[in-house]
Amino acid sequence: MTKTAPYIATCECTPNNALVKYWGKRDEKLFLPTNGSLSVCMDEQLVTNTTVVFSPEFEQDEGWLDGKKLSQDELSSATKIFNLLRAKAKKNLFARFASKNDFPTAAGFASSASGMAALTIAGAAALGLKLSEQELSIIARQGSGSACRSVLGGFVEWQKGEKADGSDSFAMQVASHNHWPEFRCVIAIVAEEKKKVSSRSGMRQTLETSALFQQRLKEMPSKLENAKKFVLSKNLPALLELVMRDSNSMHACMLDTFPPITYLNDSSREVISAIQHLNEVKGAAIAGYTFDAGPNAHVYTVEKHAAEVKKLLEGLVGVKRTIVSKVGSGPKLSSKHLLSAKGEPL
Ligand code: PMV
Repeated sequence: MTKTAPYIATCECTPNNALVKYWGKRDEKLFLPTNGSLSVCMDEQLVTNTTVVFSPEFEQDEGWLDGKKLSQDELSSATKIFNLLRAKAKKNLFARFASKNDFPTAAGFASSASGMAALTIAGAAALGLKLSEQELSIIARQGSGSACRSVLGGFVEWQKGEKADGSDSFAMQVASHNHWPEFRCVIAIVAEEKKKVSSRSGMRQTLETSALFQQRLKEMPSKLENAKKFVLSKNLPALLELVMRDSNSMHACMLDTFPPITYLNDSSREVISAIQHLNEVKGAAIAGYTFDAGPNAHVYTVEKHAAEVKKLLEGLVGVKRTIVSKVGSGPKLSSKHLLSAKGEPL
């Protein structure tokens, strides 16, 4: 490696969505969760591309997101990830990165999970580090908790871990994207604006003020075990009921937080009623909604019901558009760099 031949790599990574939610940190610095969670990797319709270059010629870390140069404040999570990678590689080089979310316009998605996972994977590759999925997950976790699940495809568990140093809090694949090829997620976009309360401060407030949250925590270990069992046995109605109940429980804890936090809006509530009604008419759960720290819905179903669910959601007031995602196969390295080898945006 010469002085003018920097270290470059690009990663394509997709977001994940949780069937069993992570809400609450037991350690805010290391991003250690109060409970384990289970997610599904989304497919390539939603993709973050991130290029990382390390070079002895750079004098500081710099980054561009969707073409806009980031301020030092906005760079803090990326720098944290680079520091962990630099320590592992024993290389004292600054980095430049460019990240682009190829999400359909007006998607209004939180991209931190795919963004931080892509940055970790591209950064590690650029430095020539051969890290295990477990190591990558532990590093990505420290950029954004949910990012630790985006380093893997398919159905993914983030195990809570017990250790104070976080070395046992990482994601593992429960089943690959081929396990349940008919499984679908119909995403209903109802809003594009940035969330009012960040998940970081929302979690902290819930932990400090909600008594209901303590009850939720007691239910989480068995809920997670059941969710994995229902995924592995492809028990759709049981899984969907669990997913809806878990989302309801998390949003109930948010409302029980003081002052209360509300991420759902009238359109989200329309989705909830419409899906409950659909399942009643069918006599069994064929679709199940879940909501993160925002009003957009992820509605799970299987291929044979996906068109009906999509049509139903598109007919609701406030639903702007839908995306039907399969289970994604996970991140990949790519040669479509967004920066030149000298770190100039292309
Ligand atoms: O993306 P984070 O790490 O700030 O946390 C997001 C938490 C939820 O999306 C609400 C739930 C989850 O498990 O993804």
